[in-house]
Amino acid sequence: MPALSASAPGKIILFGEHSVVYQQPAIAVPVMEVKAIAIASPAIGKPSNTVQVIAPDIEINSTLKTLPLDHAISMAIDLTLKELGISDYPAFNLRISSTIPLAAGLGSGASVSVAIIRVVSNFLGQTLSDEVVSQLAYEVEKIHHGTPSGIDNSVVTFAQPVYFIKDRLLETFPIGKPFTIVIGDTGIKSSTAVSVGDVRKAWQADQKVYEDFFESCGTIAKKAREHIENGEIKKLGPLMDENHALLQKMNVSSKELDTLVLASRDAGAWGAKLSGGGRGGNMIALVDEDSSENVADALMNTGAVQTIITKVGN
Ligand code: PMV
Repeated sequence: MPALSASAPGKIILFGEHSVVYQQPAIAVPVMEVKAIAIASPAIGKPSNTVQVIAPDIEINSTLKTLPLDHAISMAIDLTLKELGISDYPAFNLRISSTIPLAAGLGSGASVSVAIIRVVSNFLGQTLSDEVVSQLAYEVEKIHHGTPSGIDNSVVTFAQPVYFIKDRLLETFPIGKPFTIVIGDTGIKSSTAVSVGDVRKAWQADQKVYEDFFESCGTIAKKAREHIENGEIKKLGPLMDENHALLQKMNVSSKELDTLVLASRDAGAWGAKLSGGGRGGNMIALVDEDSSENVADALMNTGAVQTIITKVGN
């Protein structure tokens, strides 16, 4: 049995985080510059039904049986075995690595799950459809993120721009003209489950106000899709700014995110916003390709710990 590998990209949410949890549309795109990789290889000499999990990034080198049952890696493996109907399997090593920053809104959790699900099923001789892979990754997300919308697992599984409405059939859509995004990492780890939970509490306390916020974000995402399809890229800038202002009102931005957003606009970005759960993690800036390095430098000079320049629709 040869070693096999599978990978999945990172992601950013261009429009509609948080409001997507409340059935509003959102747009997310893969970030191919970073990825999670899982490699399965035979563990010769080990007893069958043993999985040796090696994930140096998070200091794990132990068997599946000794990992907590609710650990995301165990869950991804167990759910895959269950889906395949396999309880007896040859021993294998599962090596996991990722260049996607953790807890930063770039989809690292979903991406690692997708890579694991794909490689385990392929190694055991079966190929799962993208729909099933995404569904299994969603089950893992649910345990770790409370009430996820499902956007992360969808975009990283299909590795295509998605127009996502919770509980509806996933839509992909054409990009009229490729465009460039600079991603700036505040370096602050932030739990999506906590920010999603806080928005839920605030919505419960003030439904009318929050439903207006969500609807406005949904309208922005709808308009943005049209502009993206028509290749009217510059028009996305003001929509990003509006979306960021709404996220600030929902109390999911932070001083560091706001500083980077302003710095990118000052350096010539057409628009900027936080991306993902917020409170830390990453922001994104829409730029003319020629000014991407300038904007990235401005972000590093105002506190970003890392930047990624990504081209959407290439
Ligand atoms: O995983 P993150 O931090 O990119 O956040 C996902 C986006 C949210 O809308 C905040 C949550 C969700 O499940 O859609």
